[in-house]
Amino acid sequence: MNTFSFYNPVKLHFGKGALQELGKELPTYGNRVLVVYGGGSIKSNGIYDEVTAALGKLNVTVFELAGVEPNPRVETARKGIEICKSEDIDFILAVGGGSVIDCVKLIAAGAKSNADAWDLVIRKAPANDALPFGVVLTLAATGSEMNAGSVITNEETEEKFGWGSAPYTFPKFSILDPTYTFSVPKNHTVYGMVDIMSHCFEQYFNNATNTPITDEMTEGVLRTVVNIAPKLIEDLENYELRETILLAGTVGLNNFLSMGSRGDWGSHNIEHAISAVYDIPHAGGLAILFPNWMRHNLHVNPERFAQMATRVFGVSTEGKTTEEVALAGIDRLSSFWSSLGAPSRLADYNIDDNQFDKIVEHAMINGPFGNFAKLQASDVREILEMSL
Ligand code: NZQ
Ligand code: ZN
Repeated sequence: MNTFSFYNPVKLHFGKGALQELGKELPTYGNRVLVVYGGGSIKSNGIYDEVTAALGKLNVTVFELAGVEPNPRVETARKGIEICKSEDIDFILAVGGGSVIDCVKLIAAGAKSNADAWDLVIRKAPANDALPFGVVLTLAATGSEMNAGSVITNEETEEKFGWGSAPYTFPKFSILDPTYTFSVPKNHTVYGMVDIMSHCFEQYFNNATNTPITDEMTEGVLRTVVNIAPKLIEDLENYELRETILLAGTVGLNNFLSMGSRGDWGSHNIEHAISAVYDIPHAGGLAILFPNWMRHNLHVNPERFAQMATRVFGVSTEGKTTEEVALAGIDRLSSFWSSLGAPSRLADYNIDDNQFDKIVEHAMINGPFGNFAKLQASDVREILEMSL
């Protein structure tokens, strides 16, 4: 293992009825609250009414910012920052999936800064303070409810970058009620599971040696998702399946799986470059890219890929070389994601090679990247071409 420091201050409230904890948590932080949400799903599934009722029992003045986009835009965060400053907001409550939470992280930091929000994202200005914020999660996917990261899109410049500033951009608390995810449609349920598995892979393909504990933990999360995903997409309101996936999403990206190692994150970097230009769902892009990233980088450590193949997908080693076992595992992953209905080619989003120059340039903005496999521009182009 690498030497490491671990810090995660997010308080989780998990389970049916967990919203009742809001009444205990929120008054600690003040009484002018900005509630931020997305495009309306919380109004049709009743979560908005429940949150409004819970807030109504508290002595708080509520402001709202609606309409956070999937792939949240910096422009929307700027609107939220403006509200925080003009209305003297004490606390922000994100009600939604990763996009709403990520937008709130930028609003919270921007509210305490004189810099433009985009300058915080590109680290031109430091984000060294933030308003406190909490989360009511409605979709299992990103882990943003228990990490300090945020991913923001700038439509004007066609850029999408991850940023974050711990400890300021950690939520103070996150409320996770599996019943709040019952209404997530099948496609977003699948995207969520692909994202969770991708976070596992990003961390599993790391640059450390001797990581048996985190290997087993990560393989356990992966095996669990592989086992229940086909059942969940046929039974979207199954409480036990939803609660399992919800916890998988949180554990998948709250740094537990990175103790003692540094994950790769190359596939995420390429995906962000694609969705900056094409505005496709994050995990749709990952489902297309990740198996090709694996094939492209198999040579870096074939044993690692073979371990994933045997332990997660039960690939038999009999009569096969290590490379053959590894490749069989990657093929199993591709066909598993396809069986759930995830896309497998850029063509599924009508993307051809027209904008590859721009995507490669975006991915390379900070130079060669990836901690397991260092990718140059030519590698990125090759992975994109494999994904056509
Ligand atoms: O906008 P509304 O109407 O709420 O609808 C959303 C949205 O259309 C809908 N939805 C959410 N909860 C629902 C629901 N529909 C019905 N019932 C519910 N209970 O689902 C759609 C997708 O929501 P979104 O928040 O965009 O999905 P997700 O949680 O996958 O977040 C994706 C964003 O997170 C970033 C991605 O790049 C992308 O921008 N990521 C953030 C990370 C982080 N902060 O740690 C890491 C990830 O790797 C990822 O990059
Ligand atoms: Zn992701």
